[in-house]
Amino acid sequence: MGLFSLCVVALSLFSFSVVHAHEQYHNNIKPTDCDLPRFNAEDFVKRFQGKKIMFIGDSLSLNFWQSLVCLLHTALPQAKIVREANETISTFKLEDYELSVILYHSLYLVDIENDNIGRVLKLDSMKSGDTWKNMDVLIFNTYQWWGRKGPQKQWDYIKDGDKIYQDMDRTVAFRTGLTTWANWVDSTLNSPEQKVFFQGISPSHYHGNEWNEPGLKNCANETEPVKGSIYPGGTHPATKIVKDVLDTMKTPIYLLDVTTLSQLRKDAHPSSYNGLKGMDCTHWCIAGLPDTWSQLLYAALIQ
Ligand SMILES: *[C@@H]1O[C@H](CO)[C@@H](O)[C@H](O)[C@H]1NC(C)=O
Ligand SMILES: *[C@@H]1O[C@H](CO)[C@@H](O)[C@H](O)[C@H]1NC(C)=O
Repeated sequence: MGLFSLCVVALSLFSFSVVHAHEQYHNNIKPTDCDLPRFNAEDFVKRFQGKKIMFIGDSLSLNFWQSLVCLLHTALPQAKIVREANETISTFKLEDYELSVILYHSLYLVDIENDNIGRVLKLDSMKSGDTWKNMDVLIFNTYQWWGRKGPQKQWDYIKDGDKIYQDMDRTVAFRTGLTTWANWVDSTLNSPEQKVFFQGISPSHYHGNEWNEPGLKNCANETEPVKGSIYPGGTHPATKIVKDVLDTMKTPIYLLDVTTLSQLRKDAHPSSYNGLKGMDCTHWCIAGLPDTWSQLLYAALIQ
């Protein structure tokens, strides 16, 4: 981890300057204690010629993938591109460089399967790993869907080993599923050439009390980040689980520790300006915050 982990620690405590509210997507973000290299698309495609980079996870992985694809495409507008997509996999391939940036849609990383009792979330099973294991760079993420209830819940039962549950403490389920993933990484991704990342928890902004505006129920009118480098709402509760699980791993794995710097960006969500109906304070505008994530990923990859 070395340099990069130092850099990330600094970034979690970074300070930045906001230009103006109407230029909110051009914030000049700088870490306090280290230099973050500028994202260099030409360098990126040359270094990763012939490689496959895969983002695996929910719509926050989609957000990250979109950012990287846009950064590459904007810098190389003439490049020949092939796009393929189905329900599970979206591929953006820069033909001249044989470089693929791939998105694999998976809400939980572990499997959901249709058994005779219904849809079963299997905490100890990760069959999609067969597709993932051949990638050169892997960026995993899961969290958002573990707590969902009602119609948004994607399963009828949870299975762990021989035991079947109608429901369980979701933080326990999350920790168990993540541990299955960690064990799979340790036993499967053995090549020192492979680079494995976990995309830190991406925070939402639906509770104004977290940023000292207790009446607010969303990010609708937010035009500025939280000032300073400390989020009043404190550490995101899921980060401890992520760190605990990553600490047990043998494989060198980078935590892209984007949580705190993203918590400060209550202004960076689409809010009502989204393709869905309603208020979106979960995802992020592009261009915008995920470009900082891409810049961090680039820094980690080239160090
Ligand atoms: C999606 O595309 C991938 C790669 O081409 C393929 O392996 C997979 O079977 C496809 N999945 C579906 C659901 O069509
Ligand atoms: C945003 O601010 C406007 C103007 O003050 C107000 O009318 C509106 O209700 C606010 N929206 C939300 C969702 O708080």
